Amino acid sequence: MTGGSFSRVGVVGLGTMGAGIAEVLARGGLAVVGIEVDQDALERGRGHLEGSTGRAVKRGRLSEDAQREILGRVALSVDFADLGDCGLVIEAVPERLELKRRVFAELDRVCRDDAVLATNTSSLSVTDIAVTTGRPTKIVGVHFFNPAPVMKLVEVIRTVLTEPEAVERVAALVTGLGKTPVTIGDRAGFVANRLLFGYLNQAANMLESGHATRDDIDTAMKAGAGLPMGPFTLMDLIGLDTCLEVLEAVYAESRDRRHAPSPVLRELVTAGLLGRKTGRGFYAYGGARDETVDEADVPQPVVGVLGTGPLADAVAALCDRAGSRVRTAAADLGDCDLIIEAAQDAEAGRSLLAAAAGTARQGAVLATTSAAAPVIEQAMATGRPADVVGLHLPEADGTLAEIAATVATGPGVADRAAALAGRLGLTTVRCRDRAGYIVDALRFPYLNDAAAMLGAGYADADSIDAAMTLGCGYPTGPIADLDRLGLDRAVAVLRALYAESREPALSPAPLLEEHVTAGRALR
Ligand code: 3HC
Repeated sequence: MTGGSFSRVGVVGLGTMGAGIAEVLARGGLAVVGIEVDQDALERGRGHLEGSTGRAVKRGRLSEDAQREILGRVALSVDFADLGDCGLVIEAVPERLELKRRVFAELDRVCRDDAVLATNTSSLSVTDIAVTTGRPTKIVGVHFFNPAPVMKLVEVIRTVLTEPEAVERVAALVTGLGKTPVTIGDRAGFVANRLLFGYLNQAANMLESGHATRDDIDTAMKAGAGLPMGPFTLMDLIGLDTCLEVLEAVYAESRDRRHAPSPVLRELVTAGLLGRKTGRGFYAYGGARDETVDEADVPQPVVGVLGTGPLADAVAALCDRAGSRVRTAAADLGDCDLIIEAAQDAEAGRSLLAAAAGTARQGAVLATTSAAAPVIEQAMATGRPADVVGLHLPEADGTLAEIAATVATGPGVADRAAALAGRLGLTTVRCRDRAGYIVDALRFPYLNDAAAMLGAGYADADSIDAAMTLGCGYPTGPIADLDRLGLDRAVAVLRALYAESREPALSPAPLLEEHVTAGRALR
C-alpha cells in the first residue's frame, strides 16, 4: 500500500473517527502524527487505537508484531508544531464551526505552505472552513464512515476554491489505503449522509408515531431490505448527537421537513443518551437486553392462496417448502387456518377475499397482500373485518412478512396471523395499516431521493451506488435497487405514500416518471 504523494500525515482529534482514521493511515504504512488538546484526551486516543487493533489481534486478523508496527507509526502529541513536516493533515475534532476554524487557523500557521489541509466534517460546509484560511485552494473534505477501519468509502469533497491537484492527491491516497474515493462537491450531507439520514429520521418518526416498534423496524430493514443493521442500531453506532447535527445541517440546506430531527432523537440527546458511546441510546448496551415475545405454539397451518401471478406462486411455494397444505380452489377453503389473497391488483384481491370470507371457517385469518390499497378497505369489503390483516412480503422470495392490523382487526388476530406466518418460515414484524408498511415506506422515499440526486446531476449512478454500498454496507446501491425492484413499482408505492402524507418530497422524482413512460431502466 502507498500514501501516493504523502508520506507523513497528521490527524487532529483522536475521538472515534480520528483514531479510526489514524489507524487506517498507519495500516497503510504512513507515518502518522496524532494531535489532541491535552494529555487526558491523548490517552483516550491511545486507548481507541490500542482497543481497535487489539480487537483485530484477538480475532486473528492481525499479528501482535504487526499491531506493534502500526502503533509504532503513530506519534502522539499535544503540540501542533509537530505537524510541521506533514504533507497532509486531517482534522477530526467535534462538529463546531468555531472550533474547526480555530484548528484550521493553527494548522495554517504551523504547516508547510504546500500542505493540504482536510476536514472530516460530516455536517459543516467545507467552503465555510476554507474561506477563513490563508490557503483555500488546499482545503478539501475527506469524509470517512464509521467504523473507519471497516467501511470502504471515503467521500472526497472539493469546494469551488479547491485546486484540482489537491483533490487528485487526496483521492490517490484514499485509493492507496485500499478504500474507494468518491469525489463530489460541497453540499450538506454529501452523497451518503444526504440519502441515509432522511431514512434514519423517518424511522425515528415511525417510532414516534407508534407505526411500529423499534425492534420491528430494525428487524424489518435487516430481514426485508438486507441491510447490515436496522436504523436504530445504526443511529446508536453513529451517535445520536452526530445524527442530530447531520440532520440539522441537511435541513438547513434542504428545508425539507423530513430532515427536521425527530422529537424522540432530540429527547434522547438532551437526556445524554447518545448511543453506544454512552451505553444507552435507542438500546441499552452492556446491561440486560429486552425480552423477546414468545411465539405461540400453533400447528402447521392449512393455507388458502388466492389469485394468480408471480406473488401467488411465490406464496404457494413458500407454503410447500414449510410443509403446509395449500388450497387454491374457492370451494376448498373450509379447513384453512390462513387464507392469503395474492392477486395482481387491489380490486381483484378485494373480490377474491370477499368471496373467501363467505366460506372460511370461524377463527380463520384472512390476509390481504395488496400494497396498493389500505388494508381496511379490503377488510370492510369482506363483511368480517375483525378477521382480516394485511400481510406484506416486501420481497416476494424473501423471508420477511409485515403484518398490519387495522382499527377493525379483532383482539389476538394479528398475533395469530404472526404465529401462522412464523410456521411458514417467515420472520414477522408488526405495524399499523399505513401505506408501504415498514420496509417500502422507508426504502422508497430513500430511493426517490437517490433518483432526484441523480436527476439533479450532483453525483452519477456509480458514485451514488458506491456511496451506499461501501459507506453504509448496503447490499446494493439505490440506483441498482430501483432497476431491480422496477421503476413502475417505485412510482406506484411513492404515489400511495404521497397520497397518504401529501409530503411533496414523496411524489415520484421526474427522472423516475420519465423513465417509466419511456419504458427504460435507469442504467
Ligand atoms: N472497529 C474496527 N473494526 C470493526 C469495528 C470497529 N468499531 N466493528 C466491526 N469491525 C470489524 C470486525 O473486526 C470484523 O472484521 P473481521 O471480519 O476482519 O474480523 C468486521 O468489522 C465485521 O464485524 P462484526 O462481525 O463484529 O460485525 P458485523 O458483521 O455486524 O459488521 C459492521 C459490523 C461492519 C459495522 C456492519 O454492521 C455494517 O456495515 N454496518 C453499517 C455501518 C454504517 O452504515 N456505517 C456508516 C454510518 S454513517 C457515517 O459513519 C457517516 C457519519 O458522517 C455519520
